[in-house]
Amino acid sequence: MTEQTLSIIKPDAVERNLENDIKNFFEKNNLKIIKTKKVKISKEESSDFYKVHQTKPFYIDLCNYLSSGPIVVMILEGENAVKKNRQLMGATDPKKAEEGTLRKMYGLSIDKNSIHGSDSIENAKIEINFFFK
Ligand code: CMP
Repeated sequence: MTEQTLSIIKPDAVERNLENDIKNFFEKNNLKIIKTKKVKISKEESSDFYKVHQTKPFYIDLCNYLSSGPIVVMILEGENAVKKNRQLMGATDPKKAEEGTLRKMYGLSIDKNSIHGSDSIENAKIEINFFFK
C-alpha cells in the first residue's frame, strides 16, 4: 500500500552536510521525497513535537537538541513507507543499528542519531500535519 511518512534530518547530520547523501539514500531505496524544507524550530515547538515522550527521562535533552540547529523535514512516499523508512533508519541507538542503515552510517549517539522517522501510520499523519499544514 502506498503510504506517506515524516522524516527529519536532525541537527547533527545537517551540520555535517549529510542532507544530500540522506536524500539520495531514500530515493535510491524507492522512498520518494514529495515535500521538503529546512527549518529551525523553537524549544516550544520541539516540546510539542516530541510530547509523546514527555514522561521519559531524556525528554528535556531531546527537545533542546531538536531545536538546537537547522533540521530538514521531508514527506516520504512509497510502498509501506512507514515500515520501510524505519528499516532504512535502523535501531534508535546507532551502536545497535544494522550495517547499511542510516543510523549505523551516520549516527553519533542515541541522542545525535541523525534521523527521525514516524513510528506508525497514525503518527505519520500527525507529524506530517505538524510540519506541512
Ligand atoms: P527519535 O526517533 O527521534 O525519537 C525519540 C528520540 O529520543 C530518539 O530518536 C533518540 O534520539 C532520543 N533518545 C534519547 N535517549 C533515548 C532512549 N534511552 N531511548 C529511546 N530514545 C532516546
